Amino acid sequence: MDLEKVVCYCQNVTNGMIKEAVDGGAVTLEDVQAATGAGTVCGGCLENVRRLVDQFVSERQA
Ligand code: FES
Repeated sequence: MDLEKVVCYCQNVTNGMIKEAVDGGAVTLEDVQAATGAGTVCGGCLENVRRLVDQFVSERQA
């Protein structure tokens, strides 16, 4: 995965910033929204952000 890739254009949040939020303790989409602001403006990225959160959470627990 390209961690430099922007997933949320409204807030300029990258894949790596989602990963950092999860590594920092975020577990749910809402946690990551609070930590990064991703998905809090137009909402168009929400499905992508949710998928990343799920992936990083499962990787962290693996
Ligand atoms: S692209 Fe993420 S809130 Fe708009």
